[in-house]
Amino acid sequence: MSERNFHIQTFGCQMNANDSDWLTRSLLARGFRATSFDEANIHILNTCSIRSKAEQKVYSELGRIEHWCKANGRKDVFVCVGGCVAQQVGMGLRKRFHQVRLIFGTDGIANAPAALEQLVENPGLRLNLLDFADSYEEREDSWKQNQAPVSAFVNIMQGCNNFCTYCIVPYVRGRQKSRNMEAILSECRMLIAAGTREITLLGQNVNSYGLDGGEETGDAHPSFTQLLRAIMALPGLERLRFMTAHPKDIAPELVAAFGECEKLCPRLHLPLQSGSDSILRKMGRRYTTSHYKELVAALRKVRPDMIFSTDIIVGFPGETEEDFQATMRIMDEINFAASFSFIYSDRPKAKAILLPDKVEKLVALERLSRLQEWQNKASEQILVSQIGQKATVLLEGPGKIFQGTPEVFHGPADMFAQTDIHTYSNSDIDSNEIKAPQVECWQGKTAHGFIANVSMPVHTGRVGAMVPISIEAAARNSFTGTQAGEPW
Ligand code: SAH
Ligand code: SF4
Ligand code: F3S
Repeated sequence: MSERNFHIQTFGCQMNANDSDWLTRSLLARGFRATSFDEANIHILNTCSIRSKAEQKVYSELGRIEHWCKANGRKDVFVCVGGCVAQQVGMGLRKRFHQVRLIFGTDGIANAPAALEQLVENPGLRLNLLDFADSYEEREDSWKQNQAPVSAFVNIMQGCNNFCTYCIVPYVRGRQKSRNMEAILSECRMLIAAGTREITLLGQNVNSYGLDGGEETGDAHPSFTQLLRAIMALPGLERLRFMTAHPKDIAPELVAAFGECEKLCPRLHLPLQSGSDSILRKMGRRYTTSHYKELVAALRKVRPDMIFSTDIIVGFPGETEEDFQATMRIMDEINFAASFSFIYSDRPKAKAILLPDKVEKLVALERLSRLQEWQNKASEQILVSQIGQKATVLLEGPGKIFQGTPEVFHGPADMFAQTDIHTYSNSDIDSNEIKAPQVECWQGKTAHGFIANVSMPVHTGRVGAMVPISIEAAARNSFTGTQAGEPW
């Protein structure tokens, strides 16, 4: 039997991050030990295939591990490759990289912990878990009592049926499979009982929850909005978020829920992909820019403080400068608080690979940098516009002292002049006696999802507290504020 020291590297989206967290907890519960890279004899790569660069990263990491083992005489090390590249490439990985002893796909992960136990006990064994399941496969519960995070992620589905023409996800995550509502609710209940106050529901297309086989078989599950309402009714939950929503599936009842339910956070990630209707058509997105704008307007009508973030692909085949200008115009109109933008990348099996008029790399790069420059300014302005307002912060841990530099700091320069925040300065040292600071700094998130550093009187903060603050200054990605009411 070999050692049980593992090291996980995770690539890709929040679903992969959540899968890796589950795998880690499950392995720890089975007596494996999480270690540094150098100490590990089991390397697990949970991989992403969304763009070609993400796939290449996996190969270069596999090469690096192989090289490192040779250089350090580590014959005991073996590698497990899971996630989207594993599903895409399958057994081919083993041919190229001989250290690979387990390949687990996106559904196969449910059985990866048991497979790893077999591998450490049988050094000659190699295993693959590459089959797609027919329905959402429940995983063993790996939460330890009372060890839940303040802000937790809960999977509500696996896979996607949309087949946007650029996207590999339906091929590597399989068809959409909604998780049973009772299983979702019982995970949420357990998390809340252990201290979770904010839940983010995860899936590739969360708002088509329940519609796995198309509308006609949708009656096996409640609708997405019904699911949201059932979760929000759980006592003890303060905030609910979800990602990722698809614009074509935002139902009027979901818009209404944003107007009625305070617990539903007023921030929505709604991937637009392009501001040109002809490009959206070629992408197979099944909405128009006017539909998208109507959705945003309807949501802002019922929830005036609603903010939006988005994903944009630049350089999709056939994208002209005019198409790109249309994207910039809609970005400006909607005023996104954040956007994730990518250069189009050909993916195997995705239909767009066959489209003519591929955009030159340099042209796409230039468009990307124009868009990102715009976004940086817009994001900063949105943060600055909140100075002076009230917000509520869910505390997650210790905060940072605000080191303001002129280009990233907006607010009174001397705001902390009167306070000594969780460090000691020379003036605190008075004849070898150190004065305790009067104020300490905590970090958390506002309902809008902005990071906030909050100064509070000592001993009044705790992880999981909801603290009213007034926002005093903004940096590039965060606020600072002071407590402005009793925590609860
Ligand atoms: N399910 C989500 C997003 C999934 S992937 C949705 O429907 O929007 C995350 C983002 O990666 C996508 O929103 C898209 O902007 C980007 N992306 C996906 N495939 C891509 C490709 N082939 N090239 C470049 N970007 C891509
Ligand atoms: Fe990919 Fe489209 Fe599905 Fe999102 S909705 S995962 S972009 S196919
Ligand atoms: Fe990547 Fe798979 Fe997520 S391809 S973006 S890890 S679903």
